[in-house]
Amino acid sequence: MQAFTGQINDFLLHAEKTNRLRYLEAPPDGLVDLCSNDYLGLSIHPALCDALKTGIDLYGAGSTASRLVRGHRDIFGHVEAAVADWLQGEAALTFANGYTANFGCLSAICDASYVAFIDRLAHASLVDGVRLSGAKKVYFRHNDMGHLAELLAKHRAPRAIIITETLFSMDGDFAPVEALLRLKSDFDALLYIDDAHAIGVYGEAGRGLSPVGADFRMITFGKALGLEGAAVVCSERARAYLMHNARTFVFSTAPLPAILHAVQAAIELVKILQPDRERLWQTAGTIRRAAGLTTDSTNISHIVPLICESEKAALALSQKFAAAGFHARAIRPPTVKESRVRLSLNTRVTAAQTERVAEVIRAG
Ligand SMILES: Cc1ncc(COP(=O)(O)O)c(C=O)c1O
Repeated sequence: MQAFTGQINDFLLHAEKTNRLRYLEAPPDGLVDLCSNDYLGLSIHPALCDALKTGIDLYGAGSTASRLVRGHRDIFGHVEAAVADWLQGEAALTFANGYTANFGCLSAICDASYVAFIDRLAHASLVDGVRLSGAKKVYFRHNDMGHLAELLAKHRAPRAIIITETLFSMDGDFAPVEALLRLKSDFDALLYIDDAHAIGVYGEAGRGLSPVGADFRMITFGKALGLEGAAVVCSERARAYLMHNARTFVFSTAPLPAILHAVQAAIELVKILQPDRERLWQTAGTIRRAAGLTTDSTNISHIVPLICESEKAALALSQKFAAAGFHARAIRPPTVKESRVRLSLNTRVTAAQTERVAEVIRAG
C-alpha cells in the first residue's frame, strides 16, 4: 500500500511539474464548442432526442444481459442491417462504443501467429486490442505507404493484418486508402480500418471513407452521429466469428436498446445532411488557411491541429480561445507527442464565429 501511495504521489507530482495534470470540467456556459466530436450537431437534434425517448417507451431502460444471453432485441439486428446496407458491406456487429469494438475485435482476430502492421499514430484502442492478442506489433511511419510496403516485405508472415484509421483524430489528416488496398492485396494481408472521425462527415450519403474492400471497418455512433456505440462492418462469417470471440461483446451487458433505436434515426438523418457537410468543409477551409495548414482538396478536414512548442504554450492558447468565447482544449503528451490545441469543428459554428476563430489563430 505504501508503495502504491508513492507511485501515485510520483505520478501526480510529475504531471503537475510538466503541465500535464488533467481535470474534468463540464462544457463551460457561453463558450462555443470547438472540441467535441459532435461534428454535425446531432447530440441535441430534436429527432434524435425524440427517438431516444420513444426507444425507452418501446424497450424500457436496460438491456438486462449480454446479447448472447437475454440482452438481444430485434432493434440491434435492424441497426446492423441498416449499417451494412449504408456502408455497402455484407454484415455488421454493434458494440457499446468504439473502444470496445476495436479492442474486442482485434484481440479476437489476431493471435500470436499474426504480425500486425499498425500506423504509428493509430488510436489506443487499436493498439490495445493487438496487445491483448499476443500478435507481433510492427509500427509503420504515419501514413507512409513506402515504409509499410518495406515492413510487409521484411516481416513476411503467414498471417498479416494492416491496422489504421481513415481520418486521424489528433492530426486531422487522411490515410491513403487506395494504397492501403493495394498493399493488402499485394501482401495478402487483412485490412482493419477505423472510420470513427469520418463517418457521417465525408463520402456519399455520409458513409465515411472506409473502403468497401477492407476486411473490417469500424464506425462509431458517438461522434458525428451524436449518440454512443459502434459497429464493425465485415463479412457474415467474420461477424459470426466475432460474436463468439470478441470478449467485449460476449462478456458485457448489451447497450441500452433505446440508443440503438435512436441510432437507426441518426443513420437516416445523416444520409440527407449533405448541405451541412459542405458548410463544415467550408468552415474547415477558412480555419485551415488561417492556421497556414494545407487546404489541398484531398486533405481538408474539420480537425485542425494547432501545434504548440510546449504543454504550457498549448494551455495558454486554449485560454486565449476561452477569452474570445471558444471552448478549445489543449491536448498534451502522453496523448500526443507534440502539445497542441486541437480544433474539431462542427456545423453549429457560424460564419461570424469562424472569422473570430481565424483571428485568434492569426494573433497566435
Ligand atoms: C480513432 C478512434 N477510434 C476509436 C475511438 C473510440 O470510440 P468511442 O469513443 O466510441 O469509444 C476513438 C475515440 O476517441 C477514436 O478517436
